[in-house]
Amino acid sequence: MDGIPAFDLKKQYESIHAELDEAISRVLKNGSFILGDEVSAFETEFAEYCESAYAIGVASGTEALQLALLACGIKAGDEVIAPSHTAVATVAAIEMTGAHPVLVDIDLSRFTLDPKLIQQAVTPHTRAIVPVHLYGCPAELNPILEIARAQKIFVVEDCSQAHGAFYRGRRVGGWGDISAFSFYPTKNLGAFGDGGAVLTNDAELAERVRLLRQYGWRERYISQLKGMNSRLDELQAAILRVKLRHLDGWNSRRRELALLYFDLLAQADVTLPPRPADVEQVFHQFVIRHPKRDQLKERLKRSGIGTLIHYPVPVHLQPAYADLGHKEGSLPNSEKAAGEVLSLPLYPELRVDDVRRVAETILECLD
Ligand SMILES: Cc1ncc(COP(=O)(O)O)c(C=O)c1O
Repeated sequence: MDGIPAFDLKKQYESIHAELDEAISRVLKNGSFILGDEVSAFETEFAEYCESAYAIGVASGTEALQLALLACGIKAGDEVIAPSHTAVATVAAIEMTGAHPVLVDIDLSRFTLDPKLIQQAVTPHTRAIVPVHLYGCPAELNPILEIARAQKIFVVEDCSQAHGAFYRGRRVGGWGDISAFSFYPTKNLGAFGDGGAVLTNDAELAERVRLLRQYGWRERYISQLKGMNSRLDELQAAILRVKLRHLDGWNSRRRELALLYFDLLAQADVTLPPRPADVEQVFHQFVIRHPKRDQLKERLKRSGIGTLIHYPVPVHLQPAYADLGHKEGSLPNSEKAAGEVLSLPLYPELRVDDVRRVAETILECLD
């Protein structure tokens, strides 16, 4: 029997290769490779898709976050609140601005920032909160926005795992002041290399990001701001334009397969992913929890089923972040999640039979 990998990017290419090949050859024939018509068109189309006014294409999700924070004026000496249970990139981007990350625990029923813990983390130095819509499930934005507005601090959404997800009927990315997306190849909307975007409804923030991504240039060779090089290239933009047309279909398919997992695993002795009523998730990952996660992972591996762990060590316990001053036990929910989470295979090209086989194998293992 064939194995079931944790993800399979070749299948997606095969399913739309004619459209992608046409887009790639169009760019090669045009001979324009950096910040040209494809990037502009993608920015317009992606902003429209996300129901936001402005999108700015950049080189990665990490730099999208960094640029979003820099555009808000965040700098050394400032504090930025973020979860510890996230891709390390969220925290790395905060550090890259010179600001101090203040890591807060998650709500295990959602895997996202616990709004009840945010107020006590706010100090006179707090300048921003970065909610992460982890695994495709939007964070509880309303109470976060309420605290932020009362304290006059920015909300920078990390949407890297939630392209197209809805919170209370509106797409993520447009709720906060500014937001960041990653187009890393495995994301719901993935390039064939690195890529990212910043999204905002604020014309001034948009203009600052546009300048900062290319040396602070409004016109060539004249720097209005001290910027950097973080450009999305034409090839990636052309590829993303093709894939954006398929995103809603792919997200629906992920939801269908997730529902099947929910049905088949309803009686299993595992904690199933959150299903908050106020969101439409996009299931970037289907993450279950089990106290003997490593044994379960090993058993699935022996049956040819690939799984992943997002993420095995919370950022506050990583060696590089020891200077943040946390100890084991300081963010208990994040630590519990790190010890128990297991991401099952879930991607649009996965077959119903594959989902059945994964679920049956889990039920057998736990018998
Ligand atoms: C939640 C989150 N934030 C930020 C990033 C960073 O994105 P990138 O890998 O494009 O820099 C990622 C992706 O790895 C992510 O999952």
